[in-house]
Amino acid sequence: MAKQIIPLMTRYQMGPFTLSHRVVLAPLGRQRSYDYMPQPHAILYYSQITSPGGLLISEATAISENGKAYTRASGIWTKEHVEAWKPVVSAVHDKGGIFFCQLWHPGRFSHFGVPVPSAIKTEEIPHLIADYRNAARNAIDAGFDGVEIHGAHGFLVDQFMKDSVNHRTDRYGGNLENRCRFALEVMEAVVDEIGAERVGMRLSPFSNFLDAYDSNPEALGVYMAEALNKFNIVYAHFVEARHEKGVAMDRSLLPMRKAFKNTFMVAGGYDRDEGNKAISSGKADLVAYGRFFISNPDLPKRFQLNAPLNAYDRSTFYTPDPVVGYTDYPFLEL
Ligand code: FNR
Repeated sequence: MAKQIIPLMTRYQMGPFTLSHRVVLAPLGRQRSYDYMPQPHAILYYSQITSPGGLLISEATAISENGKAYTRASGIWTKEHVEAWKPVVSAVHDKGGIFFCQLWHPGRFSHFGVPVPSAIKTEEIPHLIADYRNAARNAIDAGFDGVEIHGAHGFLVDQFMKDSVNHRTDRYGGNLENRCRFALEVMEAVVDEIGAERVGMRLSPFSNFLDAYDSNPEALGVYMAEALNKFNIVYAHFVEARHEKGVAMDRSLLPMRKAFKNTFMVAGGYDRDEGNKAISSGKADLVAYGRFFISNPDLPKRFQLNAPLNAYDRSTFYTPDPVVGYTDYPFLEL
């Protein structure tokens, strides 16, 4: 009998990258780095998750010294970080994976007192943008295939966009165009540095993490999708509303899907059936999975075979152990 191909397991051409399926690793900070350096155990972790032609997005990776937030996160602002990432990226490439680095600045969430966007001085903004540019160059030097700008979940870029936390009165605050200016200036610099075909962006217009929410998230999402078209970046990655606390369940990413012309990725609460539906209905081109990948490094294979999934253990999501809850979930035995 011919093998039945499910929508999630169909090939997809994402700009220059040929993906053999649509099951993407969502960015997941696992807090197992030391001194902002990825450790050797990250090599095994990412390699376990890699499937030939599969797309992986790295954990949120800090772009600068003053962008430190969690003590066991990773960074990519120095040549030492580049060297530390190289074997991790190589391991993914050795197994045929495509690897994007998520570039992250926590903004007001940082331990180091970087203040809310309202308090960032206008003259500091070019330095922040230069930090993104430098981090993007470093990611490419480390061998990553591209970068994803973390514009979601209440961190720096999102703090500029959301009107609950951006109280600025200069050209980076006030109306939608002004609030999105920082995100788009970051994008302009990163695209200029490494090329649009290597750049994606993650956005969560509906989220209210870290108290960053917007009075008109649909307008924000569509504005960004249209603005990103002008850069011709390779993908837009939108987080669903339905799993954010206190936000209505019926909020849809469809207007953003319609507005964005290149690859559209969704994430948040997907299982096998919902992922297949999203692909077959045209709602998305790619589906990113977070928690299921944590407990099922061979997730695409399990989806293809409709095999049972290992349950994930939340208590080890962020613990420092280099093995337990990190690389010890069982693979399918066939
Ligand atoms: C996350 N998430 C996340 N998002 C992001 O943009 N950067 C990150 O570094 C992280 N880190 C992270 C760690 C852990 C342990 C979890 C569980 C989640 C959010 C993640 O990418 C994804 O959007 C959510 O997990 C929802 O997708 P699932 O898990 O329902 O497939």
